[in-house]
Amino acid sequence: MNAAVNPNKALWEKGDFTRIADTMCKSGEALVEKLGITKGLKVLDLGCGDGTTAVPAAKLGADVLGIDIARNLVEAGNRRAAKLGLTNLKFQEGDASNLEQVPDKSFDLVVSIFGAMFAPKPFDVAKEMVRVTRPGGRIVMGNWIPNDPTLVAQILKISSNYTPPPPEGFVSPMTWGVESNVIERFAAAGVPADKITFARDTFTFNFPGTPSALVDEFRKYYGPTMNAFEAAEKQGRTAELQKQLEELFNSQNKGQNATSIPATFLSVTVAV
Ligand SMILES: C[S@@+](CC[C@H](N)C(=O)[O-])C[C@H]1O[C@@H](n2cnc3c(N)ncnc32)[C@H](O)[C@@H]1O
Repeated sequence: MNAAVNPNKALWEKGDFTRIADTMCKSGEALVEKLGITKGLKVLDLGCGDGTTAVPAAKLGADVLGIDIARNLVEAGNRRAAKLGLTNLKFQEGDASNLEQVPDKSFDLVVSIFGAMFAPKPFDVAKEMVRVTRPGGRIVMGNWIPNDPTLVAQILKISSNYTPPPPEGFVSPMTWGVESNVIERFAAAGVPADKITFARDTFTFNFPGTPSALVDEFRKYYGPTMNAFEAAEKQGRTAELQKQLEELFNSQNKGQNATSIPATFLSVTVAV
């Protein structure tokens, strides 16, 4: 008998996010370099994908566990770790809303870059991140910002004009990009507001082809965009969606001979 489908898991197992992650690796490395990683630091990367931040953290000598809900991305991450000979890096399947397999206070640093924000039940996510961090440790999240004029928020905004409205009670992942929500969620997990700091930072998507070819990568491999195209097709609006995304990617491109698109995110640091 098939287990009930988990739409959160199905969304991210769709396509192949590693193709998008390829465009994010430079910014992933730059972000990790700023985290003050030392040899032997125990790091949990939540919603790690195939290792955009987990791989550079392990290369700096941290002891890294990557947890992700998508089985294909966990497998891809473990293949990467083996290929790179990183015995201090492991990936396993799990849900950021319920880390039952992870003991209390077991990590010095919990990182989640555009990862845990996509899990349902954000209050549970905050509680779990705090629970598995040791006192004196840190949580660092990168969250896309709703209605921001840069790439990712605009992709999601355009896509939402094609996809059916979410089920009742669904909390948008983008709410993690609003400071007051972050404060409220960590307060409910027992962390006061004065332990939380916010900053704006930039992630750049680098791609060797044209901006329009990058749209095609998203159309073929990025679950949320694949869903938007499926919905658009049913409405006979595929060309319209393609055009809107191509205009967006082209207008945001800062590269000359290749594509380079910066996107702003909210960086959240929580002292536990
Ligand atoms: C936009 S991708 C980012 C991946 C990675 N952090 C990176 O920067 O390349 C979002 C990731 O969050 C994962 N994810 C979504 N919901 C999750 C959940 N409930 N628990 C754990 N991971 C989740 C997805 O499978 C996907 O790998």
